[in-house]
Amino acid sequence: MATTKPLLSDLVADKTHIPSNYIRPTYDRPNLHEVESFDGTIPLIDLQDLDGPNRSDIIQQIGLACRNYGFFQAKNHGIPEAVIDNMLRVSREFFHLPESERLQSYSDDPMKTTRLSTSFNVRTEQVSSWRDYLRLHCHPLEKYMQEWPTNPPSFREDVGEYCRNTRRLALRLLEAISESLGLEKDYIDKALGKHGQHMAINYYPTCPQPDLTYGLPGHADPNVITMLLQDDVPGLQVLKNGKWVAVNPIPYTYIVNIGDQIQVLSNDRYKSVLHRAVVNCEKERISIPTFYCPSPDAVIGPAPQLIDGADHPALYTSFAYAEYYQKFWNRGLNAQTCLDMFKTTLQS
Ligand code: OGA
Ligand code: NI
Repeated sequence: MATTKPLLSDLVADKTHIPSNYIRPTYDRPNLHEVESFDGTIPLIDLQDLDGPNRSDIIQQIGLACRNYGFFQAKNHGIPEAVIDNMLRVSREFFHLPESERLQSYSDDPMKTTRLSTSFNVRTEQVSSWRDYLRLHCHPLEKYMQEWPTNPPSFREDVGEYCRNTRRLALRLLEAISESLGLEKDYIDKALGKHGQHMAINYYPTCPQPDLTYGLPGHADPNVITMLLQDDVPGLQVLKNGKWVAVNPIPYTYIVNIGDQIQVLSNDRYKSVLHRAVVNCEKERISIPTFYCPSPDAVIGPAPQLIDGADHPALYTSFAYAEYYQKFWNRGLNAQTCLDMFKTTLQS
């Protein structure tokens, strides 16, 4: 181990073949030629009037998207373009720093609150994924910011500003999602306890054999909602009706998806949908998901208002989010979501 390079970015330069530990078995490959590519699939919702007279209309659109797709795209979300530009720029600069500089942040311990790592969980996984990532905890900002990298010099300022903005958007979306479920506006806010906010900066280097590997294999997100910012290189795919569909980037547009905790809170009204990232041989790609989470000690279960007798029995037992989160990291990314471990026996 001592002689191998921990980060993919430093391992792959100039290679024409991917190392054998990145090769998926034949039954588990991206089959890129079979992927659907039309952009109309994921609803695009304009949030301009979310706080105006058309609120109920927009909430209805959000509800329909969460029910039918588990995903939507959001424009006019209120995050200034300059904040997004700075976030993408500083991310790119970080991953282009010399290896020795980047390695100062390296750790393979998933419980560390600031860490640069690779693949998904190198301690437990069998096959590696074509990704390096910097993972940051972002709320409360003052608590975590002092752990963040200081190079590039504007990193903390640019990323901090970005986090303040994404938190504001997440809170607005959680209110809208609560209302769309017929719950009190602040129901989800209250269910999350102290709230957590994490972020990943995913860096997918170019890959000489993109048909043999994933940037990230199919998975559902374990948190509450995810708000994904991506650069202009395609790579995200979402499972819809049993088919993988490419979601191509629209500049300054967020891709929002329901995580496992909303599936539980909503008692399965809304689904946490499988998605994955594929890589390509032409362009490196950066994607930046913001993961909005419950506090680790928050107890999550179906909202009592969404449980009623025979039609809607409680489909999940209650659990502490910390327990859920640990299971997620230990078992590896998997099409079988962690939700199965918390189902009541009422489900077949
Ligand atoms: C994730 C994720 C998708 C992407 O980090 O959970 O799904 O396009 N990322 O990078
Ligand atoms: Ni994801």
